[in-house]
Amino acid sequence: NCHALILAGGSGTRLWPLSRTLFPKQLLPLNGTVSLLQQTVSRVLNILGPEKIWVVTNEEHVFEVRSQLKKINPTLEQQVLSEPMKRNTLPAIILAMDRIAMQDEQAVVAVFPSDHEIRDEARWQEALLLGKELAQKDYFVTFGVTPDKAETGYGYIEQGEPLEPGGFEVKRFVEKPDRKRAEAFVASGNYSWNSGMFMFGIAPFMKAVQQFQPELFAWWESRDQRPLEDGYGSIPEESVDYGIMERAERIAVVPADFGWDDLGNWEALYRMGDKDESGCVVSGNVLSLNCKDSLLYSSGGKLAAVGLDNVVVVQTRDATLVCDKGEVQKVKNVVEMLKKEE
Ligand code: GDD
Ligand code: MG
Repeated sequence: NCHALILAGGSGTRLWPLSRTLFPKQLLPLNGTVSLLQQTVSRVLNILGPEKIWVVTNEEHVFEVRSQLKKINPTLEQQVLSEPMKRNTLPAIILAMDRIAMQDEQAVVAVFPSDHEIRDEARWQEALLLGKELAQKDYFVTFGVTPDKAETGYGYIEQGEPLEPGGFEVKRFVEKPDRKRAEAFVASGNYSWNSGMFMFGIAPFMKAVQQFQPELFAWWESRDQRPLEDGYGSIPEESVDYGIMERAERIAVVPADFGWDDLGNWEALYRMGDKDESGCVVSGNVLSLNCKDSLLYSSGGKLAAVGLDNVVVVQTRDATLVCDKGEVQKVKNVVEMLKKEE
């Protein structure tokens, strides 16, 4: 009775200027020849039938998402759910849960982001099996990655007592702490990063929505009068991390020791890339001279880089990013500033 829900409606602002509103990162073949969304769906298809896999995305991306999924399995084309506008991950999850509940009210739903990489699929499958058992006991299941730096773009999970048949209780969940808190969390050794994957039963999840997000619950309850999509414009934006996970009581964490990597920003792509002898990842129309530990990419005109150290330069046809490699999280702010200029 397990269903999978794949979130594919993000805008990937931290990978500007490669990732754009109309072509967000999950639809780009960032680390191979197929897109991150296609990789995610294929992985899930190895453990679930296509009729149990749901992909939620924004209306403007539905066409591209359907055509990417069709190439993997023709049934998947009908499994795409469309949000009329962006309201972040919590409304997207509720929309899909409602659809899944029509088939099976008792279902356990596994939520997957579409912006990460998993290197050890066998281990990932084992973690999901354990997650399913815990979700059947009404836990909200998270998958925790051992942190290796005080990354501020992630959620942090504080580990508690061990659980039967595996995993741990969670003392608290903190979404995107500031630098100081992130450093303290990592130093304590008691916290893991939230991988962005979750598992929960539909009934306990909707109960938490009722308790912590009454406005969204009222919207969901009104579905008898009108389709959920029709009310989408008037509901608040909310992420599942801030809106539910920071408040929920019965949370469990399963160790995510399956080679997880977030592909959310340029530093991650640098880390994954093939480096030359001076530690540079060079790709596309680029001439590099005396550069070190930098990412140099051009899909536009010729890019010539000289003497750069620890810098990210990304050039596309109509925009160029030049950024210190330690400041890549701020690319998100650049996109916000550009939106205001528009
Ligand atoms: N359908 C839909 N609609 N999908 C969305 C929307 C939306 O409005 N907004 C985001 N998504 C998708 C993204 O495409 C991504 O696959 C997933 O939901 C997570 O959203 P992000 O915007 O990438 O979240 P984040 O990276 O800031 O944080 C999350 O992931 C981290 C790990 O990568 C959180 O869960 C963190 O706690 C976690 O550490
Ligand atoms: Mg992300």
